[in-house]
Parts: sequence; structure tokens; C-alpha cells
Amino acid sequence: MTCIAGFTSWDEYYKAVSGNPPRETLVRALDAWEKEFGARRMRTAVDLGCGEGRDTVELLRRRFHVRAIDSEQRALDWLAGRADLPTTGTLETVCARMEDAAWPAVEVFNASFALPFCTPDCLEALWARIVAALPQGGRFAGQIFGPDDEWASPALGIRDRAAVEAMLAAFEPEQLDEINRPGKDAMGGAKHWHIFYIVARKR
Ligand SMILES: C[S@@+](CC[C@H](N)C(=O)[O-])C[C@H]1O[C@@H](n2cnc3c(N)ncnc32)[C@H](O)[C@@H]1O
Repeated sequence: MTCIAGFTSWDEYYKAVSGNPPRETLVRALDAWEKEFGARRMRTAVDLGCGEGRDTVELLRRRFHVRAIDSEQRALDWLAGRADLPTTGTLETVCARMEDAAWPAVEVFNASFALPFCTPDCLEALWARIVAALPQGGRFAGQIFGPDDEWASPALGIRDRAAVEAMLAAFEPEQLDEINRPGKDAMGGAKHWHIFYIVARKR
């Protein structure tokens, strides 16, 4: 478990965000993908670092087959126990570190507030596997932390704007918003955020 400022365990985080709506980055990626492909492609997705499942639930609601991956069994227990777990779509859960987890080719790859928690040395190889999993027109949705983020440390996978743009070389960005300002963490504590919000279409 990575303990970071604002909370001492992932379980505390799951409790704090429980019942929150899906991330806007995922919703935007799904809307764009559905508009482009409709029923012409298989609805397949990975939700990496799925946590308590706010995004997995949205993917299932939209009838995706989802591989939800998290290194914390507790996250997958939260997800399985959700009263609002849709009966549409199909769900496969995998308890594994993202550095080690395997995934098939998918149409949508979601990693909401997850990639920064990758072992820093592994981020490049992990990203290459994400890019390789997407076909032309497939969407990536997620966030990367920038160097001004209050949690930035050698223990996290941090990238500056130039590095994020380089990561997106194989994509047409549909959203690339950089936020660098004071805000609140999930527990309501003060925190300086430096985040890139990304929705991108594979070329
Ligand atoms: C900030 S939470 C985000 C959860 C959810 N995606 C969301 O948007 O609320 C980060 C999640 O990544 C998971 N995580 C942290 N390090 C991980 C790793 N190395 N491999 C897989 N999951 C990891 C944590 O257990 C946690 O559930």
C-alpha cells in the first residue's frame, strides 16, 4: 500500500469517495468512442487502479466487458459489494500490481488517478503496454501528476508537460488540461494539485 498525504490507507480513500460519480475523463472518452463507433466494435475496457469502482460501474452500465485491476483486494471487495453494480456488461476483477498485471487488447483503457502510483521506473514500460493494447480509435482516459504536485516524490510516477505530450505521440488528444493550483484532497484537507487530465484517441 502506498500511503500518501491526506489518508493513511486506501480503504480510507474508498470510504471517502464512495458513491461519487464516474470521472469526467472517462465519461468524455466513452461519449466520444460511442459517437464514433456505436455498435460497430466490441465494448471492451480495462479499468486500471479501479479503486472502489466508480468508473467500473459506469463502464458496466454502458454494457462494456471490463477487466478491473487493483493491487488492493479491499478495492475489489468494495466493488463487488456495491449495491449499484449493474447487471449489464461483464466484470472480471484482477488483484495485481499494474506493473505486473496483464490485459488483452481493449477499446477503452481507463486509469483514473492511478498511473502516478506506479513504481516510477516502470511507468515507461507500463505506458508502452497501454498504448499497445489500444486499436486505432481506441480511447485512453486518466490522469498524470506533474512535478509541482504536493505529493510529487521519487516514489511516484511524475511527468512534466513535455513528457506528457511525448507520451501522447501515438494519440490525438481530445482533452489535455493542466491544473496547477491549491485545492482539497479526498479527505477534505488542503493540497496543491498539479495534474494533467487526459482523454486521447489512438491514431
Ligand atoms: C487514488 S486511487 C484511484 C481509484 C479510482 N480509479 C478513482 O478514480 O477513484 C488509486 C488506486 O490505485 C491502486 N494502486 C496503487 N498502486 C497500485 C499498483 N502499483 N498497481 C495497481 N493498483 C495500484 C490503489 O489501490 C487505489 O485503489
